[in-house]
Amino acid sequence: MWKDWLRPFVRPLPQWSVVAVAPPQQAVIARLRWDGQTADVTADHTVASLRPLTIANSLDAGPRPVLEYRDRATGKRLGVLQLTRTASIAADNASLTLYHVAAGEHRCLDWPRRPWNTWLQNRVMRKHRTSSHLNMEPAVAQQLMIAYLCPRPVVLVSVDAPGHRNLFPMDLIGPLQRSGLFSLALRSTNVSVPTMREVRRVALSGIPATMKDVVYQLAEHHKQPLADWSELPFPLRPSREFGIPAVAAALHIRELAIVHSQELGSHTLFLGRIVSDENLADGAQLHHTAGFHQAWRRRRDVPFAEV
Ligand SMILES: Cc1cc2nc3c(=O)[nH]c(=O)nc-3n(C[C@H](O)[C@H](O)[C@H](O)COP(=O)(O)O)c2cc1C
Repeated sequence: MWKDWLRPFVRPLPQWSVVAVAPPQQAVIARLRWDGQTADVTADHTVASLRPLTIANSLDAGPRPVLEYRDRATGKRLGVLQLTRTASIAADNASLTLYHVAAGEHRCLDWPRRPWNTWLQNRVMRKHRTSSHLNMEPAVAQQLMIAYLCPRPVVLVSVDAPGHRNLFPMDLIGPLQRSGLFSLALRSTNVSVPTMREVRRVALSGIPATMKDVVYQLAEHHKQPLADWSELPFPLRPSREFGIPAVAAALHIRELAIVHSQELGSHTLFLGRIVSDENLADGAQLHHTAGFHQAWRRRRDVPFAEV
């Protein structure tokens, strides 16, 4: 019993919480603010790269906009990111703006727990930094957690070409609503990047929360392709137009025609147009959010279902 009481003082919250949410998530609203203007970007902003931490969206919100995350039910401001505009991208008759994250803060924990939890989390990150695949500065990882206040859905990306096939999980994904583009931010070391640039088509399977364990196992395919589709432990079905093997138990399968790709620091940003969108089932999709967001919801007795 005393251990439960003591835990928050000696152990940090988990950085990420794996949760089950019906898509599209409605719990958190994202707004961009600049020069007295405001735009709802809940379905129009994405993480475009991790190093440097870069956000993309379809609006040009000036040199120093603020990205704000609010809980929809209460209106509570959960966190903000201060952005600095760095570049724009023109692709397929649309344009996007890229922003570096200059600073950020969240309000999911009260003082003094907030700075204390940050200190504990950063201490763990510094200890494991070189072995962690993210290898980010702790302050930047804190900003990334704020970007995950909008719970991010997990998909399995299928790539299929002569001599190369693959299936791996992603959550740094679009949509970028106003432009009609859909983005994928993929580490440039991913083994399928050259094939995706060449064949310019993928299928995205929206994954039910119940498939969490198998999805995490598939993370190894960021580094090595699939030897054969038949090695997967679940049934597949062909995507509608391209016939790419996708997950039969998916909630939805979207096909993406890739219209643009470019390296942005650690990641390659792919932009595509949705060619088909098949809704196959209702249900909760696997999502990631920040651990401090789930802690805030738990305190209010409305936690996301955890898987
Ligand atoms: C659920 C899930 C989602 C992921 N989403 C992405 C993504 O959007 N972009 C990306 O480059 N890597 C993504 N990854 C891959 C990881 O960031 C990492 O590169 C991979 O697990 C290999 O890690 P390692 O280099 O430490 O072995 C994801 C992994 C998992 C399990």
